[in-house]
Amino acid sequence: MPSVLILAIIIAVIALIAFLIWWLIFESEGIYLGKRVVIWLYDIYASRYDAIKGFDDVDEHLLLAQPIMARLHPHTNPLVLDVATGTGRLPLALCQHARFDGHIMGVDASQKMLAVAHQKIADQHFEEFVSFQIGEGTHLPFDDARFDIVTCLEALEFMPNPEKALAECIRVLRPGGILLTTQRINTRWLPGKLWSDDDLRQILEAQHIQTIEFYTWMTDYKLVWGVKAGKSAFIGK
Ligand SMILES: C[S@@+](CC[C@H](N)C(=O)[O-])C[C@H]1O[C@@H](n2cnc3c(N)ncnc32)[C@H](O)[C@@H]1O
Repeated sequence: MPSVLILAIIIAVIALIAFLIWWLIFESEGIYLGKRVVIWLYDIYASRYDAIKGFDDVDEHLLLAQPIMARLHPHTNPLVLDVATGTGRLPLALCQHARFDGHIMGVDASQKMLAVAHQKIADQHFEEFVSFQIGEGTHLPFDDARFDIVTCLEALEFMPNPEKALAECIRVLRPGGILLTTQRINTRWLPGKLWSDDDLRQILEAQHIQTIEFYTWMTDYKLVWGVKAGKSAFIGK
């Protein structure tokens, strides 16, 4: 074989390997490499996560905290579970809401993300309103029907089994309680990891979630609201 052809093949193979590494690690954020890689990447990025995301306090209030408080009305002291809480975005938004007087349990599998969350909550003296716990989204360490509202934002697609993670969120939600999650909608190349509106609606309905609503939220995600079928007493903090 001519040496030029051999060189071309070697360059093509190296380029392909470099592309695969880039796609598996950076573009798809470790999703196809399993939970350990996903959490390892979040541990690495934890201190830069908020800067990368560029959260805006006004948006967090208007699009997360305020709609949650409106749906809970007249209650102001819910017991909230935030699955894959990350750096505490949802707990912080709720604590900053003037009427919030409940308690939020934030669970995440990344110790470093939780450490950032803990520091942010402590910096603003909200410790009495929030607890954090290391935990796996597909095996939540809580009894059934334990929370008034369960949230899981920008996280299902990172879990080893997103449908199981959703089922866990719903299991620990009380009948009549509120579910808030997200649907990834961007055009990144994530084969097999994105649900259509219809897919997600069917999955939720099969797990007894009613009053399902999709709202455009950010470039990469829709917000998805639902209510667990049935009725039960408000739990509160
Ligand atoms: C994109 S971040 C979202 C964090 C937060 N919900 C937010 O909206 O900013 C995804 C989070 O999911 C967590 N995560 C990924 N896989 C998980 C798993 N299997 N169990 C629990 N948390 C997980 C990561 O550690 C990370 O904090």
